[in-house]
Amino acid sequence: DALSRCFALDDFTAEAQARLSAEAWAYFSGGAADEITLRANRAAWDQQQLLPRVLCDLEGLDPGVSLLGRRHRWPLMLAPVAFQRLAHEDGELATAAAAAALGTGLVLSSQASQPLEAVARAMGGDAALWFQLYWQTGPEGNRASGRAATLALVQRAEAAGYQALVLTVDAPLSGVRDRERRAGFVLPAGVSAVNLAPAPAGDWRALLARAPTWAEVEWLCAHTRLPVLVKGVLHPEDAREALRCGARGLVVSNHGGRVLDTVPATAALLPRLRDALQHATGPGMPCLLVDGGIRRGTDVLKALALGADAVLLGRPQVYALAAHGPHGVARCLALLHDEFIAAMALCGVRSVDEIGPALLG
Ligand code: FNR
Repeated sequence: DALSRCFALDDFTAEAQARLSAEAWAYFSGGAADEITLRANRAAWDQQQLLPRVLCDLEGLDPGVSLLGRRHRWPLMLAPVAFQRLAHEDGELATAAAAAALGTGLVLSSQASQPLEAVARAMGGDAALWFQLYWQTGPEGNRASGRAATLALVQRAEAAGYQALVLTVDAPLSGVRDRERRAGFVLPAGVSAVNLAPAPAGDWRALLARAPTWAEVEWLCAHTRLPVLVKGVLHPEDAREALRCGARGLVVSNHGGRVLDTVPATAALLPRLRDALQHATGPGMPCLLVDGGIRRGTDVLKALALGADAVLLGRPQVYALAAHGPHGVARCLALLHDEFIAAMALCGVRSVDEIGPALLG
């Protein structure tokens, strides 16, 4: 069947495009403005070359990694991608079941189209489950109301068993996504952010007046028992600030090129951010994740060689979901996992701790 003819992540893409409405395809695949950053993310992994070692002892090769004190089967998790019911009727429930089956962690979007508690049940098992948080504004539209609304959502995630919070900070307002606008994308009836209260109406001035600042990060870290990672940090100074505010780690991300166009590819920023974290002070070793354009096992290895502890996978999960449902997502993860094992073996490393800049050409 068509699924068994998918041998690389790209094989799901054309099928997804054929099955999705033109509007949904534009929503998932598009980036901001001229999509310069969207393309740069991919190109940066391609341009990075590997310099493998040979004849190493590979017996007992293990791709496992520890993140925030928990063992992961391999250094990849599914990125938060909103509104997955656009891709498949079961949406995030299907994705979670596939992730659990492959022992792969998942970060659920604040804008998920399935209840966060149901996703936690679908996940079960021992794979990691984190919650992506967008700062909430609250009905009054003032600071106190925002904090109360955000805390209520955080407490739901805590109660449902989510093990970490990923606060996304790179989108105080939506990116200028031309492709999506030209396609006339609007959410179809029946697909919505079911875990959130409807956002109060307001123009960009109101949005910006309610946008979180570092004070909110500090407040959040003090009001949850979960570790907080900050997603969407690009500047080394912001990396240091995040740790000062109590964050336990960062996700180096430009939101898959969907928010501010012409920022650098994430691969290009990794070494500087690893450096910034190394010299920062805080409790425990900060955790550094990266996303944007990861499509191959070799990309995962390059990310680790450049200083990441793990990577997040965005669009391919929804392409696989649209093309073949939960089985598609499971196959997508299995393919990438096997590619990563092959990349490790062919570079002569037996554990992720051995992956470093010396493997880069
Ligand atoms: C996203 N991303 C995202 N990020 C986030 O923090 N919350 C969200 O709700 C969403 N929603 C979302 C929807 C869609 C359709 C896409 C494509 C992306 C960004 C996502 O987590 C991740 O940063 C990028 O997708 C990574 O890049 P790749 O792997 O898609 O190239």
